[in-house]
Amino acid sequence: MSAQMPPGGSGNDCIGPGSHRSTLSVGQPDAIVPSAARPRLLDLFCGAGGAAMGYHDAGFDVTGVDIEPQPHYPFTFVQADALTFPLDGFDAIHASPPCEAFTQMSARWRGKGGLADTHKDLLTPTLARLRGLLVPWVVENVPSAKRAMRPTVDLHGGMFGLGVYRRRIFESNILILVPKMRAPDRPIGVYGDHPQNHYSTRLNGDMKGRRSEFRRARTIDEARELMEMPWADWNGCRKAIPPAYTRLIGAQLLEHLSERIT
Ligand SMILES: C[S@@+](CC[C@H](N)C(=O)[O-])C[C@H]1O[C@@H](n2cnc3c(N)ncnc32)[C@H](O)[C@@H]1O
Repeated sequence: MSAQMPPGGSGNDCIGPGSHRSTLSVGQPDAIVPSAARPRLLDLFCGAGGAAMGYHDAGFDVTGVDIEPQPHYPFTFVQADALTFPLDGFDAIHASPPCEAFTQMSARWRGKGGLADTHKDLLTPTLARLRGLLVPWVVENVPSAKRAMRPTVDLHGGMFGLGVYRRRIFESNILILVPKMRAPDRPIGVYGDHPQNHYSTRLNGDMKGRRSEFRRARTIDEARELMEMPWADWNGCRKAIPPAYTRLIGAQLLEHLSERIT
């Protein structure tokens, strides 16, 4: 296991919202360095840190774990397998296993011996590890992963005034309350291998050949703004959940932790 330094050396070089810089503890070789007095949250399958930033904003000291290098992750990072990473010593745990095994987009290609069949279900073993733990935990995934989860929370960008829809469901061992809000009127998606410099149309799937416009972020700057992730690259943005989701959840996790202490 090794902690990873962002390119260019010290963690303070990390690009992130200015207000977060002084509290970052990135790039400590072979060590996880918590900042004093903040409860510690383990961010499994951390990606570029969309979820992490929300928990940080809520008041957690965040440590991320991902099997791939994450040079833009703005907090302490450990490159490791989330399925075997030790869970001890954390006050709360979040996990975002990859969704490809469950997405509707890849559903039609499954069972045909192609790329879609190589996507492993990492959600089920993650839930098996976390269910039964006493420490509060949260697992998120795409709505079509419902069959593998017992979700109690359903969030989308409209609840936070975001331009992305990015609906995600969450299972947790604590009660989480969420606002009820309309989806964004004309959401813009952040997905695909790269930004596209035009909006596209697609078949509606109603067998009548009708097409509807779907809009995708056209530049990395647009993706960063939509996701509220100014430090992330395209790949990081397209895989992430917006920090707003975990800011809401993190505040309630903290409240839960403080109730347990008093
Ligand atoms: C959906 S993305 C996470 C997005 C992240 N929660 C965010 O908000 O930015 C899933 C991540 O899981 C990572 N991953 C896949 N298999 C893994 C494993 N066995 N252990 C750790 N990370 C893994 C991928 O590299 C990817 O970054």
